Amino acid sequence: MPHPYVLLSAAVSLDGFLDDTGPERLLLSGAADFDRVDEVRASSDAILVGAGTIRADNPRLLVNSAERRTARVAEGRPEYPLKVTVSGSGDLDPAAQFWHTGGEKAVYTTDKGAGRAAEALRGLDHLGIDIVSTGPELDWRAVLEHLHDVRGVRRLMVEGGGRVHTQLMREGLADELHLAVAPLFVGQPDAPRLFGPGAYPPGRMRLVETRAVGDVVLIRYVPTAPGTGELAGAADRQWLALACELAALCPPSQTAFSVGAVVVAADGTELARGHSREGDDPVVHAEEAALAKIDPADPRLASATVYSSLEPCARRASRPAPCARLILDAGVRRVVTAWREPDTFVAEADGSGLLAAAGVHVLELPEFEERAKAPNRHLLG
Ligand SMILES: NC(=O)c1ccc[n+]([C@@H]2O[C@H](COP(=O)([O-])OP(=O)(O)OC[C@H]3O[C@@H](n4cnc5c(N)ncnc54)[C@H](OP(=O)(O)O)[C@@H]3O)[C@@H](O)[C@H]2O)c1
Repeated sequence: MPHPYVLLSAAVSLDGFLDDTGPERLLLSGAADFDRVDEVRASSDAILVGAGTIRADNPRLLVNSAERRTARVAEGRPEYPLKVTVSGSGDLDPAAQFWHTGGEKAVYTTDKGAGRAAEALRGLDHLGIDIVSTGPELDWRAVLEHLHDVRGVRRLMVEGGGRVHTQLMREGLADELHLAVAPLFVGQPDAPRLFGPGAYPPGRMRLVETRAVGDVVLIRYVPTAPGTGELAGAADRQWLALACELAALCPPSQTAFSVGAVVVAADGTELARGHSREGDDPVVHAEEAALAKIDPADPRLASATVYSSLEPCARRASRPAPCARLILDAGVRRVVTAWREPDTFVAEADGSGLLAAAGVHVLELPEFEERAKAPNRHLLG
C-alpha cells in the first residue's frame, strides 16, 4: 500500500542527545535553523510527534511564517499542516498547546488507548480531533497507510521524539533523515537519545546534503538497504524510482519495452544497473544487462534485490533465457517491480508468477506504474 514520503527531522547535541534531563526543553538549534524547520513544515502535508514529546515539550508545531502560510493557501492547501500524534496509552493532556493551535489534528492509538483518548479529549469535541485505532498494538504501516489513503498526506514530517524516530528508522519506513547537529554537549546518560538500541536496516545510508545553518550543520541522509521479504521499505521506493529513471535512457523501439533495472545487495550496496538495448546490444533486457555485470559467484546475490521498472519477462523471442530464469539462476530471491507486463508483445506473460512459484518474493509498487509506463507510451495505444 502506498505511504506518504516520511521525513524524520531532529536536532541533536554533539554527543547524540535530543534533550537534557531538565524540566525545560533544551534549545539545540539557533534562529536560522528554526526558520529552516519552518520551511520544511510548510512543505509538508502533516507533522507527527509522539505523545512523549507533547508531554515533555508542549510544542505548537505551527508554520510560523505568515508568507509561507499564505503560499500554502494560494496552492490550495490548508494554512497549517495536519498535526498528528501517536499514543499507546491514550493518556493525553487536553490543555496541551498541540490541540489549541494550528489546523486539523489526528491521534493514532490502540484499541485500548482509543477509549482513554476519547475520554481525555472529550471537552475538545468542537475541534473534531480524529482518533484512529490501528488494533491491539500501534501499527506504523497502518498509520502511514491511513494518513495516505484517508487523510491525503503525501509528505509527512516527523519531529520526534526518540522513540518514534527509532521505530520508523528500524522498520525501514523513513524516506529521509534531516539531522541538525548542534555545537554543544549534554553529557547526561539519562537524557533522551535520538536513536535507541535495536536492529536497524544494515549498511550505510546515502548522504544527499550537508549545509551550515548558522552554527548548526544540517545533514540529510536517505536509506539504501532494501526491505525484506514481502515488506516494502522506504529504500525500495528509492531504488525503484532509479530503475524507472534508467528506463528513460533506453534507445527507442517499436518492438520492445524500455525498462530499467538495478541489483542491490542487502546492505544497500548497488551491485549493478542496466537498461534495455544498452550499449551495442539491440536485444538485451534491463535485468539481463545488469546481472551480466555481476560475478555469478558473488555471495551477495543470494540476499540481493532486483528492481525492475517492468516485471521480468517470462518468455522472449530474442534469446532463449527470459529474465525471470536469469534471476532464478543468479540465486536472487527478491524482486520489486512497478508494472505488470501488458499483452503488447507476449500474451499472458507472467514473470512475477513464475518467480513467485519458485519461491522468490515479488513486490509490485503500483505508485510507480505511471513512471514505468512513461517511456513506453508509444507502445500502449
Ligand atoms: N531535539 C529534537 O529535535 C527533539 C524533537 C522532539 C522531541 N525531542 C525530545 O524527545 C523527548 C521525547 O521523546 P520520547 O522518546 O520520550 O517520546 P516520543 O517519541 O515523542 O513519544 C513516545 C510516545 O509515543 C507513543 N508511542 C510511540 N510508539 C509507540 C508504539 N509503538 N506503541 C504505542 N505507543 C507508542 C507512546 O505514547 P504513550 O506514552 O501515550 O503510550 C510513547 O510513550 C523529549 O525530551 C523531547 O524534548 C527532541
